[in-house]
Amino acid sequence: MCENPKDKLPAELKDAVLVQSVSLPAGAATVKGYDWNAGVDYHTLFESYKFSGFQATNFGLAVDEINKMINARKVPLDDDKIDSIEEDEFIKRKSNCTIFLGYTSNMASCGMRDTIRFLVQHKMVDCIVASAGGVEEDLIKCLAPTYLGDFHLEGKRLRENGINRIGNLLVPNDNYCLFEDWVTPKLDAMLAEQKEKGTLWTPSKVITRLGEEIDNPDSIYYWAAKNKIPVFSPALTDGSLGDMMFFHSFRNPGLVLDILSDLRRLNSMAMKAVNSGIIILGGGVIKHHICNANLMRNGADYAVFLNTASEFDGSDSGARPDEAVSWGKIKKDATPVKIYAEASLIFPLLVGETFARQFHSSKERAVSDV
Ligand SMILES: NC(=O)c1ccc[n+]([C@@H]2O[C@H](COP(=O)([O-])OP(=O)(O)OC[C@H]3O[C@@H](n4cnc5c(N)ncnc54)[C@H](O)[C@@H]3O)[C@@H](O)[C@H]2O)c1
Repeated sequence: MCENPKDKLPAELKDAVLVQSVSLPAGAATVKGYDWNAGVDYHTLFESYKFSGFQATNFGLAVDEINKMINARKVPLDDDKIDSIEEDEFIKRKSNCTIFLGYTSNMASCGMRDTIRFLVQHKMVDCIVASAGGVEEDLIKCLAPTYLGDFHLEGKRLRENGINRIGNLLVPNDNYCLFEDWVTPKLDAMLAEQKEKGTLWTPSKVITRLGEEIDNPDSIYYWAAKNKIPVFSPALTDGSLGDMMFFHSFRNPGLVLDILSDLRRLNSMAMKAVNSGIIILGGGVIKHHICNANLMRNGADYAVFLNTASEFDGSDSGARPDEAVSWGKIKKDATPVKIYAEASLIFPLLVGETFARQFHSSKERAVSDV
């Protein structure tokens, strides 16, 4: 009989280093990456991510979580859930799963704007929360382009040349002058309506009006207005739009924005939702505003957070979904996912594996059915 070499080791060494493992549950997933011998097949590559570990696994879990939202949305509404009483077309319950999309301003500054526009154009989300820059940057791009620059361009030189920097993007000051010329008459008209018809303007109503006026299908808010998707922005004045409103308050004073009516609209959407899904890109106000609305229904059913923030500083931006569970903003039995990553890199891929994949495969099916 052959001798086991481990028998010769001192007992204390065996106890310290060679602790016997319990068996992992039958069927436990094992780690495996993509086999490039199979060729360059991005869909199979992204499917393999779930089994790769680290943020690749979180990406795979987020794909599953978003697909759950999409599938819940496809289930027809029960007769008793058809929202026939609601007069506000924007907040009316439209499907079996209300999807809330939140994003920080820089998402509209970069190319993510076009991914978000696709979702809104095809009515794939029901409600948006964005910060002020996320509204104006989209509209300004309809007037003049944003340019690629470099993270390291010197602020002093840029300032002297009237160029503003957002990360490695550049926006000429002239773009904001064009925006002022475009938006000021719209603010005049809103003030006139307020005075003559008693219209109570809220940030979401202002964004809908600007979306109607921009008349450009490249714009997120053009489609949001057309498809009756409300866009909430409780701090709408914290950006260039606020600067324009500030200037306007000297030239033609009196315009009032009511944020409480918008809070009622947003929270009502969450309360009406049969199921609720939340997708939040970045942190700050946009993240909390969506989560807090979902508290009104005892938590979202599905959640995906995508951001670079960490929780060690106690910030809401960095809070993992489990912190939101503790507050009742995500349901206790939900399977929320947080991807720690930069959104411009990841979100187009997430959309490609979920909304866009389902959209194009159903279109192909519709064509082949003919
Ligand atoms: N283009 C702009 O960024 C811009 C323009 C005008 C006004 N503003 C104003 O600045 C204020 C602060 O901006 P904000 O609330 O939109 O968010 P923010 O830019 O302050 O970001 C908040 C958090 O979101 C996360 N985050 C941001 N970008 C990310 C990315 N690309 N990938 C992953 N995570 C990311 C980070 O954790 C960050 O700390 C707002 O009031 C906004 O209106 C911004």
